[in-house]
Amino acid sequence: MDQNKTPFLDALKSYIKDGISPFDVPGHHMGNAENDFKDFVGELTYTADVNAPRGLDNLNHPSGVIREALALTADCYNADEAFFLINGTSSGILAMIMATVKAHEEIILPRNVHKSVINALIIAGAIPVFVMPSFDKNLEISNQPRIVDYENAIKKHPNAKAIFVINPTYFGAVNDLMELSKLAHKNGMLCLADEAHGAHLGFTKNLPISAMEAGFDLSAVSMHKTAGALTQASILLRKGNRVSHYDIFKALMVVNTTSPSNLLIASLDSARKYMAIHGKDKLDEILLLGDYARDEINKIPGFKARGNDYFIGNGEYAYDNTKLVIELESLTINGFELYNILRDEYNVQMELAEQYVILGILAIGTKKLHLDNLIAALKDISTKYYVSDRTYPKYHYDSPFPKMVMRPRVAYQAPLKKVPLDDALGLISKESIMIYPPGIPLIIPGEVFDQSIIDRIKQYKKTNATVLMDYDDLTVSTVDYDQYLANRGAVEDKFDD
Ligand SMILES: Cc1ncc(COP(=O)(O)O)c(C=O)c1O
Repeated sequence: MDQNKTPFLDALKSYIKDGISPFDVPGHHMGNAENDFKDFVGELTYTADVNAPRGLDNLNHPSGVIREALALTADCYNADEAFFLINGTSSGILAMIMATVKAHEEIILPRNVHKSVINALIIAGAIPVFVMPSFDKNLEISNQPRIVDYENAIKKHPNAKAIFVINPTYFGAVNDLMELSKLAHKNGMLCLADEAHGAHLGFTKNLPISAMEAGFDLSAVSMHKTAGALTQASILLRKGNRVSHYDIFKALMVVNTTSPSNLLIASLDSARKYMAIHGKDKLDEILLLGDYARDEINKIPGFKARGNDYFIGNGEYAYDNTKLVIELESLTINGFELYNILRDEYNVQMELAEQYVILGILAIGTKKLHLDNLIAALKDISTKYYVSDRTYPKYHYDSPFPKMVMRPRVAYQAPLKKVPLDDALGLISKESIMIYPPGIPLIIPGEVFDQSIIDRIKQYKKTNATVLMDYDDLTVSTVDYDQYLANRGAVEDKFDD
């Protein structure tokens, strides 16, 4: 297909040129209303923010230029079919799981999934069969589960509908997708991918392959994270005939707004073109810049930049070297403090922090100048906070995730008992608690508060991390079990299915 084409963007430009007298929504009527934000971003953003019921196609029933743009996207991303998502990969994950796993059916998935996956379990009413990710005790981050763990879960749960894979993890770890896809299909299961951080994978042989290349059935991909689309713009990809167009279409009809932003759709159309035409060369250039940055950072006392060699040396199958993982080796500050210092004192914005690590995302917009600013900042910070004999109080959580005793949907809908975190030991959570980013819940509805999780939440609260929980004051939402038992019949009759 001719990947130079941008059918949707072209149609949008032409719509604006038509000299329309608008009586449709949005009510700013192509920028004719006064607005401070319009003054800030420029009139054209508003002029192009049209609904255009006639002339620009309809995301929910594409038959014209959106259909053409989707075909180009599917072709570019090695898929049989693509869907545009205007509420992020989160909405793709909801649709993907709603379309494939019903209430009381099982899905095999790593425990370090994003909160959108947990929300999908709640909506679908599915039973999660968690496989534990491998855990890097040095960086205290979760990577990929081992293939044998997926195999064991499949053996124990032969009726599971699907296996779910994160490709790559936030920190860049990649699993053996070919093997996982064979394994799932051989056992009659579907293979679903969360490629929120993988919109650039597969464009060069210097990066790991994508889920579509490995024959996965579905993948949700954040074009906005690493492929240059506007924030919230993602795609859902489908391959083969194990899942039908209709299944996905039906789920997206539940999840999608009826007022999709045409700015976001236009940004998807042009991001796809850029990736198709320039993706390979650009990404090869960025990977070299990453190597340069890691070499420079590794010369600075107190820091270690971890890439391919480190992760593969630690047993990961493959690694996405566009992730810039910087370990704090011997400093008097932790990762959260470093993250804030970089932003507040050096105008360097990293993606996220953990206790002993900060993460930068290298993507098609990365500039050497910005890497040089980061390197210079780290050099300066090293002079202030490096101490040669620092030993960190590592926590070494061998089992970083709590035990699940109740289906997430049931816990979510069960009666609420608010308790101070310290009194939650042994109680079942009704909420997902996480630091954000990365948005990987420490505990989810249906899991039991154990001492380790209580300690970790308190520990994170003491840092500068953003801890997302239902209440701000270390109160947590738990299942009122007595009430739950008393209502049980009613709850199950009314809501459980
Ligand atoms: C691993 C992972 N999956 C899914 C998502 C959701 O993607 P989006 O922000 O496009 O909705 C995120 C977002 O941070 C993520 O990190």
